[in-house]
Amino acid sequence: RPPLFLLSRKLYPTAVRRLPQAIIMGVRKCGTRALLEMLYLHPMVQKAAGEVHFFDRDENYNKGLEWYRTQMPHSHYGQITIEKSPSYFVTPEVPERIRAMNASVKLLLIVREPVTRAISDYTQLRANAATASPATFPTPAPKSFEQLVMHQNGSVNEAYRPLAISVYHHYLHRWLEVFSRDQLLIVNGDQLIEDPVPQLKRIEKFLGLEPKIDSHNFYFNETKGFYCLRNETADRCLRETKGRKHPRVDPHVVSKLRRYFGEHNQKFYDLVGEDMGWPE
Ligand code: A3P
Repeated sequence: RPPLFLLSRKLYPTAVRRLPQAIIMGVRKCGTRALLEMLYLHPMVQKAAGEVHFFDRDENYNKGLEWYRTQMPHSHYGQITIEKSPSYFVTPEVPERIRAMNASVKLLLIVREPVTRAISDYTQLRANAATASPATFPTPAPKSFEQLVMHQNGSVNEAYRPLAISVYHHYLHRWLEVFSRDQLLIVNGDQLIEDPVPQLKRIEKFLGLEPKIDSHNFYFNETKGFYCLRNETADRCLRETKGRKHPRVDPHVVSKLRRYFGEHNQKFYDLVGEDMGWPE
């Protein structure tokens, strides 16, 4: 019989706050929240609430590791604590700082087809701008995705941040200078949307967890158009900011962008030794 604490998430006095043994380091808009919530279905996983931004924000990093520990949930011996802050991926100082905390930490990088990721990023930025601007002032119509990603002369605006962040190899090479490849698992965010269980089984194995998460933990919600999560006590979907409707993008622009990313995607595949099969 497993000890009582393994049967319940109820906290007993022996639980303490521990530094994370695994970190979801990015990439933003690739399903970082879905991934963390899905892993939390496992009884041996504890998650930090919110995004801690310890390693990427100096004002937090300067508070030291003991402060970071206070941001972590209580966990029992043997449980894995996980946090996610997607901006870790693109912040230059972060890999070294994480290594200084724990050189054998396990890293989860979730990626999506880069053009879809860029459109998702644009959709979020536009939604945030709409909520930030006061309703009493007339605001200029937001620029379309097409206007932002293409220069007038038809070339790709590489400086546009949602495109730049989709060039994964630019950021990943720094991580692989600091961590060994076997400490890093690449999670396919498009497949996590389509069929989460196989991705989660790979992650359980990578984290050394017993296989527990299964198809009984998910049901497809037709209204949301995504899988929602189920455990012993409740069914729940992610918030409405996860799974937004994307604007229609001119297919010529999509093709141009896919061609642009072709070479970058190949560099990413070479770096990780896996072919994600993204369309060109
Ligand atoms: P969209 O809103 O563009 O569809 P992040 O948490 O890193 O910001 O990622 C958000 C993305 O998670 C969403 O992007 C959505 O596609 C994806 N996602 C993956 N699985 C999901 C799920 N089960 N429910 C809702 N969104 C999910």
